[in-house]
Amino acid sequence: MSLLRESTTMTPSFGGPPFVLIRTARLLLEPITEGHADEMFRVLADPSLYHYMPSEIPTSLVWLRERYRVLSRGLSPDASQLWLNWIVSRMEDRRAIGYVQATVPPSLDHALMGWTVGRATQGHGYARESVRAICSHLMRNGIAEVRATIDVRNAPSISVAESVGFVREATAMSEDVLDGIRGTDHHYVLRSLPS
Ligand SMILES: CC(C)(COP(=O)(O)OP(=O)(O)OC[C@H]1O[C@@H](n2cnc3c(N)ncnc32)[C@H](O)[C@@H]1OP(=O)(O)O)[C@@H](O)C(=O)NCCC(=O)NCCS
Repeated sequence: MSLLRESTTMTPSFGGPPFVLIRTARLLLEPITEGHADEMFRVLADPSLYHYMPSEIPTSLVWLRERYRVLSRGLSPDASQLWLNWIVSRMEDRRAIGYVQATVPPSLDHALMGWTVGRATQGHGYARESVRAICSHLMRNGIAEVRATIDVRNAPSISVAESVGFVREATAMSEDVLDGIRGTDHHYVLRSLPS
């Protein structure tokens, strides 16, 4: 099944357009565009962001622009999955500070989420605020379950997940090898958002 045709009209099972601008009290969550690459390159060039996640540090601005151009479709290259990436900006200065991503498989029954906030702006509750808003958007549109996989050593990310209402359901050896070491991950699930 291709989600391409459905998402350009309106994915019936999703409930509404999946890839929309979302506002919170302090933040703007914008569907990713190639134009976000210049600002995000500086945020993502910090090696300290990659201690506990397998994402690649961007090798060049050209690489990141191309990556964001692909992601701006909101779909995997074969159009079978929703690849929803939002750039998080602060309302007060319109500065891009991070991203939240959600991958939704063809079954549309769950989403797998990830999040990153640049080091200079960590510790202000921005991750919690943006993750909660995206979970709310996904669940309002019929996604029954949001999942997140978090390295057991990643205390800030665990704190974000648990404060949003994710519940730890399992702990298992990671599929990823970071710095030559296969770590251990907690598997978190969110089935309803606490009010
Ligand atoms: C995880 C991450 C997104 C958090 O961003 P953030 O905007 O700083 O998060 P918030 O401010 O919303 O919340 C951070 C929480 O972590 C807590 N925290 C921070 N450092 C901590 C530590 N070393 N030990 C325990 N808790 C810690 C903070 O106290 C806060 O919780 P609180 O509000 O209950 O006190 C950010 O650290 C990051 O991008 N890390 C690198 C990328 C990454 O690992 N992403 C997640 C992959 S699963």
